Amino acid sequence: MELQRKDVGIVAMDIYFPPTCVLQESMEAYDGVSKGKYTIGLGQDCMAFCTELEDVISMSLTVVTSLLENYHIDPRDIGRLEVGTETVIDKSKSIKTWLMQIFEKCGNSDIEGVDSTNACYGGTAALLNCINWVESSSWDGRYGLVVSTDSAVYAEGPARPTGGAAAIAMLIGPNAPIALEGKFRGSHMAHVYDFYKPNLASEYPVVDGRLSQTCYLMALDFCYRRYCSKYEKFEGKQFSLSDADYFVFHSPYNKLVQKSFARLYFNDFLRNSSSIDKGAREILEPFSSLTGDESYQSRDLEKISQQVAKHLYDTKVQPTTLVPKQVGNMYTASLYAALASVLHDKDGTLGGQRIVMFSYGSGLASTMFSFRLQDGQHPFSLSNIASVMNISEKLKARHVFPPEKFVETMKLMEHRYGAKDFVTAKDTSLLPPGTFYLTEVDSMYRRYYTQKKGAEDANGGESITSGNHSLANGHK
Ligand code: ACO
Repeated sequence: MELQRKDVGIVAMDIYFPPTCVLQESMEAYDGVSKGKYTIGLGQDCMAFCTELEDVISMSLTVVTSLLENYHIDPRDIGRLEVGTETVIDKSKSIKTWLMQIFEKCGNSDIEGVDSTNACYGGTAALLNCINWVESSSWDGRYGLVVSTDSAVYAEGPARPTGGAAAIAMLIGPNAPIALEGKFRGSHMAHVYDFYKPNLASEYPVVDGRLSQTCYLMALDFCYRRYCSKYEKFEGKQFSLSDADYFVFHSPYNKLVQKSFARLYFNDFLRNSSSIDKGAREILEPFSSLTGDESYQSRDLEKISQQVAKHLYDTKVQPTTLVPKQVGNMYTASLYAALASVLHDKDGTLGGQRIVMFSYGSGLASTMFSFRLQDGQHPFSLSNIASVMNISEKLKARHVFPPEKFVETMKLMEHRYGAKDFVTAKDTSLLPPGTFYLTEVDSMYRRYYTQKKGAEDANGGESITSGNHSLANGHK
């Protein structure tokens, strides 16, 4: 049988972030930094974090279960499952294998794929793998499923306010409303020590903040030029910012996104693109002779290019920023949370539009690629995806913790990282119904998770154990 595989991409999406967060404004006061440093300087509003009840595994269990239920997908219809993460809980056992509990109980253990890790890039590696699988001769007609899940936590200091946590699940298949434009892709991969996690006894990274910013912007330049040249090769005309409706960036914090879009604008100016108007051209002219290195160090260029690009930023980037500003850096989920933001913001008006994506993972791995959007058929329509993700309600339902409580939680998590033989708090009142949570890590480091019962589920929650899976209560 000939399988149809046109317009392969994201067919459906769901997002989960912890219901616990801290306001950046209150973190400024608590940390004793100048007012505005985190909210204006970094451009962040709020930061989500996992309490002892949640981690990257529980968030993945929650979001995958929710996606399958919300779009009425039979777990037997998943043929490949890939997880992107940089939050290492086990150096051997993949998060994908924990997720298999959802599928095994339906008799489906025939699912390829494991985890991909390279800082914030793992989700993109997983996405491209799954799309390639659907487009390959190995495809058996079933869906792929990509999960990006991370808890971004930093030691006390300047990087701490750039944390966050979330999991995103994306169903992959043909006739997708968010279809990958496979030919237009530019990557840049290199060896650098900008952000890395060499200390296996700690969840915190070693970060060279300044270097990571420069590496990000350099990678962006390389990827944009390569994306443009592929576009020009296949389309026979120059690409410029005017050829895409939205630009979605990996978002460690919003200020870097503002700088990144300005950098693309400067690239268009250097490439002599017709999209740059005469006034902006004259303003940027004095910077045209800077070397690459000089241009990354020039504060004047940074400021002026942000000013001349501001009108385009407001239409092409600002609608992608809601979740990253409210939740913080979600590492592998960050880019896809920004995509979710524009689907939410432009609900029902995106058909026919192009979205350019920039994925960056320190170390480093980076790719620019693009999606072409189409309205899609229910339940896989763009408007239903926005309604399933229900971002406004999820943001509204969160519980704001004072900074003291956040710091106390970070201390407990430091102590628990890599630990065994403990049980977690019994109080799950802050978790929404249907959320999975950690109950225990036993003397063999096996982790036990339970699902908080839903409003409609009067029979009690569902237990998922870490060993040979056993599901205590039936699941619809
Ligand atoms: N009001 C308004 N703005 C202010 C204020 C204030 N009171 N105080 C400072 N600022 C501005 C600064 O001018 C600066 O703006 P600029 O970037 O336009 O120059 C900004 O706030 C940040 O201040 P810095 O002093 O530069 O911040 P610091 O060096 O203390 O930390 C950093 C910032 C490096 C981003 C740190 O949070 C970090 O290391 N984060 C983790 C690394 C990271 O996220 N890298 C990004 C790519 S890699 C990845 O995704 C993990």
